[in-house]
Formats: sequence, structure tokens, C-alpha cells
Amino acid sequence: MKIDVLTLFPDMFNCFLTESIIARAIVKNKVEINIIDIRNYTTYKNNQVDDYQFGGGGGMVLMCEPVFNAINSVKKKDSHVILLTPRGKTFNQTKAYEFSKYKHLIILCGHYEGFDERIYSLADEIVSIGDFVLTGGEIPSMMIIDSVVRLLDGVISKTSLESESFDDGLLDYPVYTKPRIFNDMEVPEVLLSGNHKLINEYREKERKRITKEYRNDLLK
Ligand code: ADE
Repeated sequence: MKIDVLTLFPDMFNCFLTESIIARAIVKNKVEINIIDIRNYTTYKNNQVDDYQFGGGGGMVLMCEPVFNAINSVKKKDSHVILLTPRGKTFNQTKAYEFSKYKHLIILCGHYEGFDERIYSLADEIVSIGDFVLTGGEIPSMMIIDSVVRLLDGVISKTSLESESFDDGLLDYPVYTKPRIFNDMEVPEVLLSGNHKLINEYREKERKRITKEYRNDLLK
């Protein structure tokens, strides 16, 4: 998979691309991620990319020209263009699976007051990460990339993906590691039994209990 991220703040992605699972996925050629500076695509004086809004009001608005140029420079027939804004549909695990099937994602991060409305015409899909307003789309894009890349073949082990939160609408079961007893808190006996049928039954029951306790809304 190839992912092109269009941003005014490319340096925000430095650690994200060089640490942990994402870094490993890049090294193993499971994904190619390019961070593209929208500022390189403006033809206005002084690298201008934003301006005051017509009609008055606070905040700077991202201009059409640099964004259209930047997208057109990377867009191919099989590209899927995602525009990030609080206006979009809320991202979730189902969307992460859906995005993981594309060959090429182009993710457009806004900043400041917003995009010139005409920029929306470039998007195949408009996505938000939740009902709150951030200073820009950079953190949302990292969240989306993180959740998508871990689903790509060979990035993390198949067993890690076997039972996950939000699969069949339930949260994941609780996990424990050594020691067996810590501050008088014990690992459930069944997990030490070696009986995989019993362990699976226990885990399924726990998924339901935990979902009910923490996210009862998912059961409705
Ligand atoms: N940009 C600013 N806030 C955002 C949000 N909630 N989701 C996606 N992009 C954003």
C-alpha cells in the first residue's frame, strides 16, 4: 500500500514514521508513506498557502491552488482521496478495514480555520476522528494510518488480529502476564489450566462482561 499525506507541517510526522510498528512496516516494504508539504505546490509570492476569508471572520483559510496542485501531482486512477475535517463521518474500525484494502490513499490534512469550500470537490471521502476540533488534520491522519497499517498483511501477527476490540461489536477480553500474583491480585485460574476450550469460553464471556461494563452503548 502507498499512502501520501498532504500537510503544511511535515515535521510533525518525524517520530511517527521512525518508531515501532509503523517504522517496521515501512522497512519491510508493507507500506510506503510519503509526507508531502503543500507549501511546495503554491505559486503565490512568499510561499503563501492561506488567506483571510471572504465576507469577514477570524482565522486563515487554506487556498485552493496549492491543494489542487499537490493532489493532482500524486493522484492516479486507483487513488482514494480522504479529506480530514470535523465535518466528516466518524472514523471507526470498520473504516480502518475498508481503507486497508486500497492500493493508494491520499490523506489531506487541513489546518487553521478550514479549507476553501471548493477543496471538498477533490475528496472521495470526508472523515472526522470524533466530535471535537483539533488544530489540524495531522494527528487524525496519524491515527488513521496507524489503525490501517497494522491491518496490512504481515505487519503484525495474525493471532494478534484474531480477536480484537470492535470485532462483532464487542471489546477485547482481558489479558495477564507474569507474575501470577501481584499485590494480592491473582490471574484467573482458568488461564493457567491449559484447557483451551475452557479458556475460549471464559474469554468470550469476559468480552461480553467488559463491553457491558465499559461500553454498554455498543450492545444496543
Ligand atoms: N481536523 C480538526 N479536527 C478534526 C477532527 N475532529 N477530525 C479530523 N480532522 C480534524
